Amino acid sequence: MERLEKAPPTLRRSATTGSSSNGILASVALPLLLVLLGLFASPPSKSTYHALFLTLSDNATAARHLLALTRRPHVAGTPANAEAASYVLDVLSSASFSARSASYDVLLSYPVTRSLLLSPSPPPFSASPVAFDLIQEIYPGDPYATSAAESVPTFHAYSRSGSAAGPVVYANYGRLEDFAALGEMGVNVTGAVVLARYGKIFRGDILKNAEEAGAAAAVVYTDAKDYCGRERWFPDGPGMPPSGVQVGTTFRGIGDPTTPGWPSAAGCERLSPAEVSASGLVPGIPSLPISARDGEAIQRSVGGQVAPDEWQGGEGAPVYRLGPGPGFLNLTYIGNETLATIQNVFAVIEGKEEPDRYVILGNHRDAWTFGAVDPSSGTAALLEIGSTEWVEENREMLASRAIAYLNADCPVRGSGFHASTTPQLDELLKEVTKKVEDPDNFSQTVYDSWTLSPNHSPQASGGATDFAAFIQHVGVSSLDMYFGEGYPVYHSLYDDFVWMRNFGDPFFHRHIAVASIWGLVALRLADDEFLPFDYSSYASELQRSAKIAKDQAVNTPVSFAPLYKSIEKLKRAASTIDNQKKGLESKVGLLKWRKDPLTVRDVNDRLMMAERALTDREGLFQKEWYKHLIYGPSAQDDYGSTMFPGVDDAIWKAKRLNSSEAWHFAQHEVWRVARVIDQASLVLGGKFT
Ligand SMILES: *[C@@H]1O[C@H](CO)[C@@H](O)[C@H](O)[C@H]1NC(C)=O
Ligand SMILES: *[C@@H]1O[C@H](CO)[C@@H](O)[C@H](O)[C@H]1NC(C)=O
Ligand SMILES: *[C@@H]1O[C@H](CO)[C@@H](O)[C@H](O)[C@H]1NC(C)=O
Ligand SMILES: *[C@@H]1O[C@H](CO)[C@@H](O)[C@H](O)[C@H]1NC(C)=O
Ligand SMILES: *[C@@H]1O[C@H](CO)[C@@H](O)[C@H](O)[C@H]1NC(C)=O
Ligand SMILES: *[C@@H]1O[C@H](CO)[C@@H](O)[C@H](O)[C@H]1NC(C)=O
Repeated sequence: MERLEKAPPTLRRSATTGSSSNGILASVALPLLLVLLGLFASPPSKSTYHALFLTLSDNATAARHLLALTRRPHVAGTPANAEAASYVLDVLSSASFSARSASYDVLLSYPVTRSLLLSPSPPPFSASPVAFDLIQEIYPGDPYATSAAESVPTFHAYSRSGSAAGPVVYANYGRLEDFAALGEMGVNVTGAVVLARYGKIFRGDILKNAEEAGAAAAVVYTDAKDYCGRERWFPDGPGMPPSGVQVGTTFRGIGDPTTPGWPSAAGCERLSPAEVSASGLVPGIPSLPISARDGEAIQRSVGGQVAPDEWQGGEGAPVYRLGPGPGFLNLTYIGNETLATIQNVFAVIEGKEEPDRYVILGNHRDAWTFGAVDPSSGTAALLEIGSTEWVEENREMLASRAIAYLNADCPVRGSGFHASTTPQLDELLKEVTKKVEDPDNFSQTVYDSWTLSPNHSPQASGGATDFAAFIQHVGVSSLDMYFGEGYPVYHSLYDDFVWMRNFGDPFFHRHIAVASIWGLVALRLADDEFLPFDYSSYASELQRSAKIAKDQAVNTPVSFAPLYKSIEKLKRAASTIDNQKKGLESKVGLLKWRKDPLTVRDVNDRLMMAERALTDREGLFQKEWYKHLIYGPSAQDDYGSTMFPGVDDAIWKAKRLNSSEAWHFAQHEVWRVARVIDQASLVLGGKFT
């Protein structure tokens, strides 16, 4: 590779790998990008080198990197994770990247004491209670048996420390509607220990709902019906083993809990532990995640009414009842919240013509266990803390210079392509997926198989994964992608290399497909003369979502007319800038006319900044950190996302209150969205009113 060292990069704009450091995909995709640029000191046609880029990827290399990165469990803040960081730095440096790392001191949460006791009936106890061992079992022949001992015991990060005891109440998925149903069925949750299943909403929201219903504590398990189904369990199949436990954070905010809205630099201003507790973003009750086996044992101790059909388990499960009791749980959890240093790894390829414009590729490296599938989170997790802190630290730079953020933090878990994008990237993604082979059927492209699947339209999710900070805080156009649906061993000990090789991606072709799509999208964004952004697609997506929001508000006083009007304006602005681009392009061939670089720059700036205009300084009501008024977290579920989150939330509340103030407020939220869309149209058009 030495010969590449002096080869000048030839991208127009700069590409940087950023966020909370980069694992496997960056290691595969980015050195390839650089090799490619090195090969062509003066590049041949773009399509030639895009095609070459696709042939350079190598599944054996991908497999080797993954093996190296998942040798040990590497939770954020541990030496093993620092080791993984230096591995990534080495790989990037050996590919001639100027790589560096940035550190943040953030509040991390580790378990100290855990215990869970079940008695068949409330005190006074006639026999000694059963103590669950809370251990994920090693299977015979597990090559990671030794290093599994390094993994952090199962726990809910940031959960409340303390002991609580009470009769068990079964609360299904722990959603608001589940607790409402319990109320209607006359089940008293006050003072009880809630038993809930994972699978529908973010675990922090399950705990919040349990707490608000009056529970003393909660345990959450992965029901075999949802996490194994008819599959066999690992290692014989992809399913979650009976002793498997999904660990993860319960923090309902984003980034470091002690630095809400600002970067966690060493020595910076911080909230005190008491202020963090008082924020309402961490649970006020103790909790533990538990296995399917323990969940089922607890289910068997519960009496009372039989739970509704949809609340029941799968084949072979006992009949689930609601309680309270007679089964009685005694739970103790003591955690240690401590400031720890985390590293983000960066590498930059500097562009030639517009080096101050950035395309950012990112994922994260730290994992709850071995992290074969998931250096990921899909949660407001420890895992995204790094990228959030980095975005907060560089907020104004990103706001003025970032073209797009391309995320791939949990990219391979099975077959079938999925993507979420802000809609101006829809068309680009379609074009790129038409150039990449379907990793599961080489006689077609990813695009072919994607369009055959029922959910092929790219949807910009607002979910709180790594890219939340980019899109929702700063308003940087973003894209996230992955192969496969949810995966059963998520955040458990079994998310390891063996699972990946046997079930997630047996030939590592899906890794290569993601790296190819990721890299090609980045190349186009870094290199196309005019940014391949399509705002007509944005307007269409807004229109579809406006209809959904309007349908939810039928027979209410809320008018969506202002929103529709603003979307019409955006449509016109989108076609104006499209025509301007076409006009500039057609002149070139005819008159040997050279485009004025400042005119090109002006068009690109308007395309880049229109997304920014969809943010509002004040942010979402009572969630001020979230500045984007189109994409944001759902009020009822931190995993979920919703378009027009402010409108959605206001209508949801107004329906419950049915007061004129509440309806007035919902109308105000519609106006706010309409106004940011008007701003985006002005930016696209590039003219004052
Ligand atoms: C619910 O249970 C709690 C604790 O046992 C008790 O104090 C409360 O009175 C009960 N509420 C109802 C409505 O029965
Ligand atoms: C719960 O268990 C702890 C020991 O782990 C014990 O001290 C406490 O008395 C128990 N509480 C109840 C109500 O049984
Ligand atoms: C909490 O963690 C810190 C830092 O690792 C350690 O020094 C301290 O002893 C821990 N406290 C407890 C109660 O485990
Ligand atoms: C592979 O793709 C080709 C072309 O789309 C299609 O005809 C064939 O049925 C696919 N094979 C499988 C196993 O899905
Ligand atoms: C890479 O792909 C080839 C061709 O499909 C396959 O034979 C090989 O086993 C794959 N390598 C790995 C490490 O999976
Ligand atoms: C809401 O209030 C209005 C008038 O204040 C009343 O006409 C309407 O029936 C109420 N709707 C619901 C669903 O309660």
